[in-house]
Amino acid sequence: MKQIHVGLLGCGTVGTGVARLLINNRDLLRARVGADLNLKRVADIDTETDRGVAFDPGVLVSDAGQVLNDPEIQIVVEMIGGEGIAKEFIHQAIQKGKHVVTANKALLAGKGNELIRAARKAGVELAYEASVGGCMPIIKTLRESLVGNRIHAMTGILNGTCNYILTKITDEGSAFESALAEAQAEGFAEADPTLDVEGYDTAHKLAIINALAYGMEINLSDIYVEGITGITPEDIDFAREFRYKVKLLAIGKDKGDRVEARVHPTMIRDSNPLFNVGENLNAVTISADAVGEMMLYGYGAGMMPTGSAVVGDIVDIARNILTGAGSRLPLLSYQPDAIRKIPVMPVEEIETNYYFRFAAADRPGVLSTIAGILGKFGISIASVHQKGRKIDGAVPIVMLTHRAREADVNKALAEINGLEAVSETPVLIRIEDENSD
Ligand code: HSE
Repeated sequence: MKQIHVGLLGCGTVGTGVARLLINNRDLLRARVGADLNLKRVADIDTETDRGVAFDPGVLVSDAGQVLNDPEIQIVVEMIGGEGIAKEFIHQAIQKGKHVVTANKALLAGKGNELIRAARKAGVELAYEASVGGCMPIIKTLRESLVGNRIHAMTGILNGTCNYILTKITDEGSAFESALAEAQAEGFAEADPTLDVEGYDTAHKLAIINALAYGMEINLSDIYVEGITGITPEDIDFAREFRYKVKLLAIGKDKGDRVEARVHPTMIRDSNPLFNVGENLNAVTISADAVGEMMLYGYGAGMMPTGSAVVGDIVDIARNILTGAGSRLPLLSYQPDAIRKIPVMPVEEIETNYYFRFAAADRPGVLSTIAGILGKFGISIASVHQKGRKIDGAVPIVMLTHRAREADVNKALAEINGLEAVSETPVLIRIEDENSD
């Protein structure tokens, strides 16, 4: 039986998952692929830690060169992460004519266009299913299953750490810091958790799937990003009263000659299928012309779920090698000459529904002044709620709006913030409600 040799660079959490699947499920994979996938070499600076997997002698080495320079290895799996040496090794592998599998969303979001050009030029595969949504086959779904569809919109919970933190605060009243510490202990937070909680990890993933869905180059820098660190238990409690939950969403929408690309905390109604996606789970809803609405759901991080996606990519490449199919799929879903530089809509131009919370003096006329300013900027109020009474006289006034333009909202909130009767910076949370006015 033909053997296909695989080399692994980096054997941390996900790398270990890949090694376990390739070794423990070797017979199963052989039966499905029709060739033996041999994990020939694994390079990691740590060759001591027990990965719970029985490597043959000489497989685990500290020198990446033993993977990159081995002419027998046809598939290199980059599991180092980050944008430094990982990029260098991927380029080296491509130059040597090796196919590459990676889960490195930060690298793809930042340098994906360059890496894809290099892979195309060398005629090799660059596979990256595990870079978005862990085990959820979102890349395959966009590139293959939905190839006949025009995609209208995607809305995703794409960061397990943020979803875990928001779920713990919502369901158990946990403190932000303790929920984050738990996510770190579970191993799904990034090495630098600010990438998670400030929304950048989600933005990396949105940049990748927007490119695939809409036929644009990967564009990270124009994505509007807001994390979850400003979300208070008070706002989560108000959300619950209105049958909303707060989720960190990645939103990518086709707007004709532009796309929306934004990441921010968002209130969603209990009728939204993302409402019950809790803990560290991920999900993405896709709206497309043929399928209507659909959703993918599963673990977006972790050793085995992410390892599963990587092994799926390895097998795709192995099957291409076996059948001589070459690079069967365009790396970025569209043919290179069909990929456009589609501009991202500035966030000031989006229109959506809003939740506002004001800390206002509890005296006659304040509410009407605030409502008057909103009216002046064309913002229509859907409901108003005033809660309790604080000792210093400031009370939270919560308003939900009909659809409004973000630029108008910004102007109105700036004016309201300047009122003597308003003691704190107003809180704004966008609401995603496709069924609203
Ligand atoms: N830090 C990421 C998360 C890992 O929390 O979802 C998967 O990309």
